[in-house]
Amino acid sequence: MFQAVLFDLDGVITDTAEYHFLAWEKLAKEIGITIDREFNENLKGVSREESLRRILVHGGQENAYTAEAFADMAKRKNDNYVEMIQAVSPKDVYPGILQLLQELRANGIKIALASASKNGPFLLDQMQLTAYFDAIADPAKVAASKPAPDIFIAAAEGVGVDVSQAIGIEDAYSGIAAIKAAHVLPIGVGKAEILGEDIAIVPDTSQLTLDFLTKVWDNK
Ligand code: BG6
Ligand code: MG
Repeated sequence: MFQAVLFDLDGVITDTAEYHFLAWEKLAKEIGITIDREFNENLKGVSREESLRRILVHGGQENAYTAEAFADMAKRKNDNYVEMIQAVSPKDVYPGILQLLQELRANGIKIALASASKNGPFLLDQMQLTAYFDAIADPAKVAASKPAPDIFIAAAEGVGVDVSQAIGIEDAYSGIAAIKAAHVLPIGVGKAEILGEDIAIVPDTSQLTLDFLTKVWDNK
């Protein structure tokens, strides 16, 4: 039996992936760049700075800004995003997630957050989920962001469980790559075309039960 579950947040615990998209879309529009949902798949799981860099490359503006202007744009996006998430509440927790957290705790399985977002702790508080988490890996303290394995390794370390005994849950391509690189067992939330045909996938979080996780673990 696995000993820990390492959760991504945006797009796994709640629908904030959509708010990230809307905030980037607004910022991009202000500087004359159009992004769509297909392009947005390249931003999911990716850090704030790397997301902005990818948007600028996409719009052919990668060398158009000073470091100061770049930092200002990243801040503007985050200010807008933070405004959007003020209203997040327990009713925004995705279907099945609260039950899964309860089942994991009841079975003594450790729970950790492995989100790239610096707004993760605030969002867990807003959803009244903080008490379920044994550890929250700090994205500001890891050397490399997803698809590098660092945040998942830090999350497993945070709960004192070897990576080989953990499951990681992700909705982003970069996140699944990070889980694989960390030698954690991946479960994807979304579509196989995006996340890969070689991993266990659920179309939505309502199917993430302890029973399902156990089946995936036993079949690995
Ligand atoms: C990830 C999101 O969880 O966090 C990305 O999928 C986001 O879209 C990244 O860019 C960083 O988040 P934040 O809140 O620190 O800007
Ligand atoms: Mg995500």
